[in-house]
Amino acid sequence: MQFGTRNPFTPTFGFAPHVLIGRDGLLSASGLALEEGPGSSGFSALYMGPRGSGKTVLLNEIEDHAARRGWTVISVDAASTGVGERISEMIEWAASGDDRSSDGSEQITTVKGVRIGPFHARRESLRRVQPRWSLRRQLTELASAAADSGAGVLLSIDEMHRCESDALLRLANDIQHVAKRGQMPLAFAGASLPEIKHTYLADDRFSFFRRCECVDLPLIDAADAFRFVTESVTAGAGECTLEAARLLADACDGLPYQMQLLGDHAWRIAGAPDSGIDSDAALESIRVTASVMQDRVYRPTFDSLTPIERRYLAALAEHGGTATRRDLGTGSRLSAAQMATAEQWLMDNACIEVVNAHEHPAGPEAEIGFGCALAASTVAERIEIESGYGRTEATVTHESARALSPRCNHPMPRARARCILRLGHRGGHRSR
Ligand SMILES: Nc1ncnc2c1ncn2[C@@H]1O[C@H](COP(=O)(O)OP(=O)(O)OP(=O)(O)O)[C@@H](O)[C@H]1O
Ligand SMILES: [Mg+2]
Repeated sequence: MQFGTRNPFTPTFGFAPHVLIGRDGLLSASGLALEEGPGSSGFSALYMGPRGSGKTVLLNEIEDHAARRGWTVISVDAASTGVGERISEMIEWAASGDDRSSDGSEQITTVKGVRIGPFHARRESLRRVQPRWSLRRQLTELASAAADSGAGVLLSIDEMHRCESDALLRLANDIQHVAKRGQMPLAFAGASLPEIKHTYLADDRFSFFRRCECVDLPLIDAADAFRFVTESVTAGAGECTLEAARLLADACDGLPYQMQLLGDHAWRIAGAPDSGIDSDAALESIRVTASVMQDRVYRPTFDSLTPIERRYLAALAEHGGTATRRDLGTGSRLSAAQMATAEQWLMDNACIEVVNAHEHPAGPEAEIGFGCALAASTVAERIEIESGYGRTEATVTHESARALSPRCNHPMPRARARCILRLGHRGGHRSR
């Protein structure tokens, strides 16, 4: 693809990249699952990854692939209220509308702020759905109509971690009923931040999602990132030295969003496509990108953590950014159980990682370092600010044991927050 003098990078969220990298395996697995039908393990899949790891982009690709196979695609963002009602509304709207979106085109339409994937089902199939039917009945009829024409229905839900629990529970029951009990071709693809592992996936009532194929989005490796930089620059009719491409690829930390930021800044700093991207432009881009990541990813991630998780990270930062479990535990005033709980959460959310995992270290020898969702500098910055207010380690240590016990963290999507009370608290949840 040629973009003339257009910048080929897309450092934003949910925007289809001009060069899609590192997702071939997941896309072919999803395509195979749709082909195999309801018995296939990947027929219901949940993709998890930190901010900017490419969840929305992957869902969109899966939807497009399904639509091109003639499947009916219903795509919804669970962040705002009434997800079930909105799906019903979309189905009714599609059934009653004109035939523009059933002409086989890739047209994507938005109704009331909800993105609707291309409806490729024949209009007559949609018209079998009657208004005021329950969502379960609507989905059953849609899936049965799609099955009659040798296809199926794909229900795709983004931002699942922000969905209200009652709405998500109803939806899970409906999908399960239609897809599993009725053996209907109703496939499911969801996307969420990994924190869902500690909320809905840890809750037995949501066992449907636990039984989905749960996939942690793989990080982009340096070879793919290198290919991404060179192919994108070429697509934009620009030029880049090998050294500059290597520098940019090595700096992306496996995160697609960061990869896009690096390319975008290098492109602008160099004045591409009129001038080529060289090492100087790449190094400057790496510096600017680090500061943008600080504002848009690292600080918001750090702010969402509990005091215990922050103290775990403070200990890691004080060890210079990497330390074995043994060393972290030795200097810490947290209990072993608190350290282990914090580690699990931070690991799941890509704030930390085991840097010597390839050596298969035994428990205490595992070496922990910062992950792609957080930087040591963010933690150091916060420690410095807090110490300016006299909140030293000693002060924090004297806080009551209750204040240090794990947070409830129950999602409160309407407040765009999680419950700040301690685990096992009485009464309703509270966001502040
Ligand atoms: N596989 C990929 N190859 C190249 N670029 C990608 C890829 N995946 C995502 N991107 C780019 O990274 C940006 C962020 O991707 P996306 O919005 O899908 O992340 P996300 O995980 O959904 O983030 P959030 O958790 O904030 O919703 C996109 O705008 C897109 O341009
Ligand atoms: Mg997203």
